[in-house]
Amino acid sequence: MNLAPLLLLIVLAVLTVNCQNVPQERIVGGYAPVPHSIKYIVSIQTTNRQHFCGGFLINRFWVITAAHCNIGVTRMVIVAGDYSLAIYEGTEQEVYPHFLVPHPHYNSTSNSSDIMLIKLRAPIYLNSYVSIVLLPKQDSSIAEGTMCRVSGWGYTSPTGGQIPATLRTVTLPVVSTEKCNSTRSFNGSITDKMLCAGYNIGGKDACQGDSGGPLVCNGRVYGVVSWGRGCADAEFPGVYTAVSKFRRWIDNTIFSYYSRFCHRVVLMKQTQSSPLLNNLLNAEGTRAAHIPGWC
Ligand code: ARG
Repeated sequence: MNLAPLLLLIVLAVLTVNCQNVPQERIVGGYAPVPHSIKYIVSIQTTNRQHFCGGFLINRFWVITAAHCNIGVTRMVIVAGDYSLAIYEGTEQEVYPHFLVPHPHYNSTSNSSDIMLIKLRAPIYLNSYVSIVLLPKQDSSIAEGTMCRVSGWGYTSPTGGQIPATLRTVTLPVVSTEKCNSTRSFNGSITDKMLCAGYNIGGKDACQGDSGGPLVCNGRVYGVVSWGRGCADAEFPGVYTAVSKFRRWIDNTIFSYYSRFCHRVVLMKQTQSSPLLNNLLNAEGTRAAHIPGWC
């Protein structure tokens, strides 16, 4: 019996399987993390489920993203617990935004204050697929050369192409503002409220579609993916919103929402409100009451 055709088939089958396992360059120059190991990241999608920006959870009701990701509160949905955007994994939690708070000083020309808070309509459940991430203290700085991780579902090549189905991640060193502002690089466009990260030789970077996503250094989110020149170009690192410069604004915005809200809860409790008002309040009233010290 002639075994040659059979052998050929086996060889072909082995080759096909192996070729599928060849690691591909993603984010730009990054790799696919262990599924669900980056639990704080969210995909921000249009209501027809097109991913357009990243973001991250800072507590069960609040997400941070870039202000330039603001396409309008009625047009977006936040997806936590995601890994492959193409497959329903059963770990996803979709929540609509209640309202958006883009930074009042956001300027789309200079890209300054490119940060936005999203208050969710319902709380995200924290589990083995979803968690929150810590923020740095107000004005805390991060040393040049510190290695940070940026993740997202953005373009995997500088020339664009398709959005990758699975999450990608890459580690990058922080670049000093001085170097980032040099004439060979961003020539003075980097303010003290921005942060640069990348290699001098390029090759690794965030890219289109990664915007709003987290740059995590020493376990805290120091940067929000904001802008760049192309992606992964030598001498042009990625530019991030420096989260530590906005910590006070973040805390104050969240606090003032709850203090206004609790004021209403207390008033309602005092005035023996109608069943209708009670129902309205109940959902958020009980949640707020669960946060120690609130209401
Ligand atoms: N503005 C881009 C976005 O909307 C992100 C750009 C980041 N670019 C970079 N080279 N790091 O997705």
